[in-house]
Amino acid sequence: MTDLAPLFELRLRTPRLELRLGTPGEIDDLGALAERGIHPPEEMPFGVAWTDGIGQPGFRERFAEFHRDQCESWSPLDWHLDLLVWADGEIVGNQELYAKEFAETRLVGSGSWIGAAFQRRGIGTEMRTAVLELAFRGLGATAATSGWLEGNRASGRVSEKLGYRETGIGEIAPRGVPVLHHDLRLDRADWAPPFPVEISGLEPALPLFGAT
Ligand SMILES: CC(C)(COP(=O)(O)OP(=O)(O)OC[C@H]1O[C@@H](n2cnc3c(N)ncnc32)[C@H](O)[C@@H]1OP(=O)(O)O)[C@@H](O)C(=O)NCCC(=O)NCCS
Repeated sequence: MTDLAPLFELRLRTPRLELRLGTPGEIDDLGALAERGIHPPEEMPFGVAWTDGIGQPGFRERFAEFHRDQCESWSPLDWHLDLLVWADGEIVGNQELYAKEFAETRLVGSGSWIGAAFQRRGIGTEMRTAVLELAFRGLGATAATSGWLEGNRASGRVSEKLGYRETGIGEIAPRGVPVLHHDLRLDRADWAPPFPVEISGLEPALPLFGAT
């Protein structure tokens, strides 16, 4: 079995945030944050409508299982780095970075959410900056993709501010009704981090990302 211990030593620090993998207890705290609300119920910012399960029996268990699986299914050919985000010692959200066959493609994708109480303070921009620095400076990525669903201006704006450009528009239906999806891409040549990001503990983990 792959030794994933080096991943747990990885730390990203921005002026206000710390990002790292969570313990089972911290992941449960993240589930509790999700239960307190991420978006208004009439909106669905995610491609998979997982927040519709909030308030239903077993939500916290399913949430924890999903996060555990993300880690346990790790392979250098297909990985999902599921970072928890702390601001002033408090868990505020989740920032994911993922890739398939990174050694070949040098391409990453990302997804994120922040508890409603912590949104619109610049945290979303700061945590995306952290994983883009990990991708471009730390892992040697050549491009990053992202996307946003029509109506989710906050997500679109974070990407726009960080230099992504739109590469296409598609349709997905997280709640069974088609919604426009904006596809975005940021090339390394266009990446200029708006503030410094400290990356520590990466070197021993590089082979796990297919980034040696
Ligand atoms: C998307 C998300 C991660 C952004 O994080 P955030 O901390 O709220 O974002 P920031 O404060 O860093 O920046 C948001 C930008 O969008 C703008 N914005 C936020 N809400 C907006 C709205 N409803 N309409 C227009 N602009 C909006 C802000 O003004 C800011 O731009 P500015 O710096 O030019 O003023 C967060 O809002 C979130 O978790 N939303 C719910 C889940 C989600 O949408 N996840 C992403 C799925 S693709």
